[in-house]
Amino acid sequence: MQACSPAAFDRLLAVAGLSPVELEIAADTRGIGIRLLQPALFFHHSFVSGPLARRARQSNQALLKACNNKTRSIDKILDLTAGWGADSLILASHGQQVTMVEQNSLLFAVLACARETLAQEPAGAGIARRMFLENVEAGEYLQGLDKAHEFDCIYLDPMFPAHKSSAKPAKEMQILQRLTDNREIESVFALALQKARRRVVVKRPAKASSLTDVRPDIVYREKTIRFDVYLTA
Ligand SMILES: C[S@@+](CC[C@H](N)C(=O)[O-])C[C@H]1O[C@@H](n2cnc3c(N)ncnc32)[C@H](O)[C@@H]1O
Repeated sequence: MQACSPAAFDRLLAVAGLSPVELEIAADTRGIGIRLLQPALFFHHSFVSGPLARRARQSNQALLKACNNKTRSIDKILDLTAGWGADSLILASHGQQVTMVEQNSLLFAVLACARETLAQEPAGAGIARRMFLENVEAGEYLQGLDKAHEFDCIYLDPMFPAHKSSAKPAKEMQILQRLTDNREIESVFALALQKARRRVVVKRPAKASSLTDVRPDIVYREKTIRFDVYLTA
């Protein structure tokens, strides 16, 4: 039994069939199983159960502090690097409206299934209604925005560079690294600074330098990551 519609699952199978990376996709009532054959890696993607859903419910997260302000006036967020949608799910679960931009068609199709599954849950329907999906390159999306300053906050979480000395990333990140890559992140960041109504937020490894030589105004830290905040108003 599948939780997302046959149409959404068929679209996912179609893009998976075109992927240069060999993988197997299976749907169940909670989400999508993604099995990479070489190297052998498996990840069950779900917005309704498992690690992403559990993390989304936690309120004391640096991401939530970085993407809001004291007057709670940040309502509309543009996530330009949606990936598996974990960060967007956290933000939408805490009441913000998130437009999720992802360049990779396979990830986009997984996100579309996950949002449909979430929408079918009584507790998830309201969250799913706050999540919008766009399958487009971030720079192109920003260029095409009708009005400047349409989003209060623009969020970027580019893939982190592999670090020789650090432990292997989690399986879902290893799969992501096989499927996709960063594109034009520095120019996307420069454009984001022009377009965000109140702030741009960039996720970075805890000890990495900032994305460019523009210095963040505020930094929120967790153990292995941090969020650099650039105020634009
Ligand atoms: C590290 S992942 C983001 C993970 C995400 N924050 C999450 O919570 O699952 C980075 C994602 O950004 C996407 N990406 C990188 N450059 C992009 C661009 N220029 N336009 C759109 N998506 C981009 C990649 O395809 C990848 O899926």
